[in-house]
Amino acid sequence: MSANPEKTAFLKDIRSIRTYKDTPIDEEVLKDLVDAARMAPTARNIQPWEFVVITDREVLTQLAEVHINGRFLKDAPAAIVVLCRRETDYFIEDGSAATQNIIVAARLYDLKSCWIGGCKGPYYENDDIAMCEGVPCKIPPMYDDLCSKLKEIVKAPIEMELISIVSLGYSDEHFVAEKRELEEVLHWNHFNQ
Ligand SMILES: Cc1cc2nc3c(=O)[nH]c(=O)nc-3n(C[C@H](O)[C@H](O)[C@H](O)COP(=O)(O)O)c2cc1C
Repeated sequence: MSANPEKTAFLKDIRSIRTYKDTPIDEEVLKDLVDAARMAPTARNIQPWEFVVITDREVLTQLAEVHINGRFLKDAPAAIVVLCRRETDYFIEDGSAATQNIIVAARLYDLKSCWIGGCKGPYYENDDIAMCEGVPCKIPPMYDDLCSKLKEIVKAPIEMELISIVSLGYSDEHFVAEKRELEEVLHWNHFNQ
């Protein structure tokens, strides 16, 4: 089969959008987004996730007030919180795959979305920053306080880690963040400098 960029055009059109109309999102649509999320791949098919769909304005406002990079949640008609059980080996990757499925499925419903960063996992838990070839390869637990507050708002059990919050809504905004060129990032067989 020869390449047809039209097939992937809708994926390339997906961008993080942070302003929304106040049009509500149908509950069945939101359910279908979670249905798409739960079909994402997971290491050893553990499916360590739970999804909290938020449509309550008060809860969205609470999240917006706490999340320094998610202030726009206060005006979103809905959001989906992706949580994963942290004792599993690949919970960040698993939860990230589910997050991206939500974003792609949302696009198919003409919804705009934004991935809002969650907690970072057990390797952020202590202050001992490991060095990789002389460079710190861990980030300090600057998000710990933020994460416990976010988890408290959605009443997430202690063993769950908040992987992401996906804000959702209809919007006419078409913000286009610059991307690195294909030729720059694509390598065949070996990494070419
Ligand atoms: C792991 C991850 C965390 C992110 N966290 C935030 C966030 O907290 N707040 C936000 O506004 N955008 C967040 N984003 C969205 C990025 O800012 C966005 O994807 C990037 O600027 C590129 O823009 P684009 O998605 O429109 O191509 C996050 C994206 C990823 C993948």
